Amino acid sequence: MQETVQLEIFRYRPDQESEPTFQTYEVPFREDWVVLDAINYIKEQIDGTLSYRWSCRMGVCGSCGMMVNGVPKLTCAVFLRDYHEGKIRVEPLSGFPVERDLVSVVDDFINKLKDIKAWIIREEGQEQPVEEGEYLQTPAELAQYKQYSMCINCMLCYAACPVYAQDSTFIGPAAIALGQRYNMDSRDQGRDQRQEIIASHEGIWECTFVGECTTVCPKDVDPAAAIQRAKVSSTIDWFKEVLVPWGKRK
Ligand code: FES
Repeated sequence: MQETVQLEIFRYRPDQESEPTFQTYEVPFREDWVVLDAINYIKEQIDGTLSYRWSCRMGVCGSCGMMVNGVPKLTCAVFLRDYHEGKIRVEPLSGFPVERDLVSVVDDFINKLKDIKAWIIREEGQEQPVEEGEYLQTPAELAQYKQYSMCINCMLCYAACPVYAQDSTFIGPAAIALGQRYNMDSRDQGRDQRQEIIASHEGIWECTFVGECTTVCPKDVDPAAAIQRAKVSSTIDWFKEVLVPWGKRK
């Protein structure tokens, strides 16, 4: 007889139901299946009404993030065999409104990426003409920000963050880490614009350094460190602004 595993899946179809429920499905257990494979099996073989997001199935696109037994995970990167004993409970990422079933509403995060200006900014007239080629960097300059550039916008760090769970106005781990990624890029000249957001009341000072954002990151980015580094540089800004006489400023 084929071995099976049970998945307890969060269901919510707001056009049909006033409250979410959980539905249990039995799927074949295979050593090499990730949790996303089991969800795809449910969709294809058992219940085509189930809604969820995924795309690459290789930990790159960041779209398959869900709560697996209460912990934010990329469902394409965790194996059924890791949860085989008992049921596996799958829910949408916590901290975000639910669109339908396992699909979260991600507008808040997308708007925060826009607010933080997660792209290279050059001062007006400072853009390098195309014919002069690329902006070059030394390996040391690249190393300054490379770790933060590995973020795939999966939002697991938001689902793990107790501050964001209490107050969604918090800019949050990934957006601040990406702001730092560009602030530390030698080609960028947009730090002053980003600081208005990063050092605002909703920015770095909301973070209480629990560090769960870093613990759950599937790409080994360290958003908690990015936030603490931003706190240090913002404090230095403040000292320069308030304590250093104008004549001595660099
Ligand atoms: S499907 Fe792309 S990261 Fe999981």
